[in-house]
Amino acid sequence: MKDILEKLDVRRANARLGGGKSRIEAQHKRGKLTARERIALLLDKDSFEEFDMFVEHRCVDFGMNDQPKTPGDGVVTGWGTVNGRTVFVFAKDFTVFGGSLSETHAQKIVKVQDMAMKARAPIIGLFDAGGARIQEGVASLGGYGEVFKRNVIASGVIPQISVIMGPCAGGDVYSPAMTDFIFMVRDTSYMFVTGPEVVKTVTNEVVTAEELGGASVHTTKSSVSDGAFENDVECILQMRRLIDFLPSNNQVGVPEWPSFDDIEREDLSLDTLIPDHPNKPYDMKELVTKVVDEGDFFEISPSFAKNIITGFARIAGRTVGVVANQPMVLAGVLDSDASRKAARFVRFCDAFEIPILTFVDVPGFLPGTAQEYGGLIKHGAKLLFAYSQCTVPLVTVITRKAFGGAYDVMASKHIGGDVNYAWPTAQVAVMGAKGAVEIIFRADIGDPEKIAARTKEYEARFLSPFVAAERGYIDDVIMPHATRRRIARALAMLREKKVEMPAKKHDNLPV
Ligand code: HXC
Repeated sequence: MKDILEKLDVRRANARLGGGKSRIEAQHKRGKLTARERIALLLDKDSFEEFDMFVEHRCVDFGMNDQPKTPGDGVVTGWGTVNGRTVFVFAKDFTVFGGSLSETHAQKIVKVQDMAMKARAPIIGLFDAGGARIQEGVASLGGYGEVFKRNVIASGVIPQISVIMGPCAGGDVYSPAMTDFIFMVRDTSYMFVTGPEVVKTVTNEVVTAEELGGASVHTTKSSVSDGAFENDVECILQMRRLIDFLPSNNQVGVPEWPSFDDIEREDLSLDTLIPDHPNKPYDMKELVTKVVDEGDFFEISPSFAKNIITGFARIAGRTVGVVANQPMVLAGVLDSDASRKAARFVRFCDAFEIPILTFVDVPGFLPGTAQEYGGLIKHGAKLLFAYSQCTVPLVTVITRKAFGGAYDVMASKHIGGDVNYAWPTAQVAVMGAKGAVEIIFRADIGDPEKIAARTKEYEARFLSPFVAAERGYIDDVIMPHATRRRIARALAMLREKKVEMPAKKHDNLPV
């Protein structure tokens, strides 16, 4: 009997070695952790329950049946907890055929995807893999298809997070692309459909892996990735932090953590946050961090379309999604990138019943051929669409400008804002004074005195929150220092909000 038990220990130890000691050393030399080390760091201590440790590939082509098989077949799968809450996980093992996906490797991933859906718990994929196992051909492609289909079925039901922790190609970038969030590790992770060598063969283009698909590219240019971290350890610890913000599924509502930040807390410094001159910028992040619990803000896509801020925070211990124009970048204007970024975030929040807090200081949509040719109308419509279809609580605070169409878009009353507040410094209007006067008083343009008088008149009448408040478009004009308390009360009042939308198969978002 003892022999049998010991054999199990030996088999387990062998499986834990993955591709062997030398490949593990190579992994460490590149500054990367192994799949198992990553999982151990992600999950609560001793909470990992592994599935399918002994699964082996069945490939016999290209000499695959002559080589010793590696138990586990290049992916470690199972479940555990993060701060006590169940999550499912799979981690690609780069030491085994570069983490590439075989038929059996795919079956392991599909099993945890199905389990995560049955248990209605988030799933996290740690990617460090070269795509389809080339030796397996179509069996591998079929495996990816099964994974992709499940990514889509699970979308909007359980949170799916992808973490890119090594060179990833082919299916190992397409599956992440269908999940909710993608994070990368700087300098050691890459994402491309085809690597630099194939690029050179096909297009004659010579690029490095970093130039083609490093974190610097995907967090700033392509927006494929929602954020990047310095190394494996920091990245995984940040994933634990993110999971604490997320609901387990689309039915249970947001998690509630003990909060040590009084909801009555006032912040007098907010009364002087808005500069005297309307074109002077200020940092909207200062407002966000001063209002939310303990200043704890997990930003999504901080390096892309910085003119809009998106991320998770808590009010009274409960998660909220924050969307805020950033006057420090392009005056907080809405352009195509900002619209797409915020639209995707708003849709995630709505799908998972996360209330949305919107801070508005927006001079409008960005004019110009570059934007129009790039499809600003369609991209702007994405954000308008996303907010308009929300059924989660929407609380909006206009701090300064809310001009033109952008006023409507940014969770205004008209498209579903539940509680809409404005600071006394708010200016809700079709446009700023200069533009407005030049259009409606064109005949007076040659007369600076008249123009100055008209401008003053316009500013006095329209550049305030009161025209909107007179119509009930703004529920109240609030003191900046009381913003946290007013938001917290509004969210508490809206906690059981229910809105019925007409039955339909699905909408037709302007993609
Ligand atoms: C089998 C693979 C493999 C693969 C890597 N390996 N990729 N084995 N199938 N796809 C093996 C290597 O042979 C090597 O084995 C080990 O993994 C490490 O790979 P290296 O090349 O030495 O590592 P590195 O230099 O870091 O380069 C990593 C890489 C590169 C950028 C991922 O290996 C690469 O370009 N691989 C091919 C990528 C690719 O084109 N995949 C198919 C995509 S198509 P040894 O024994 O030497 O350690 C696809 C279809 C899905 O995925 C459909 C999408 C819609």
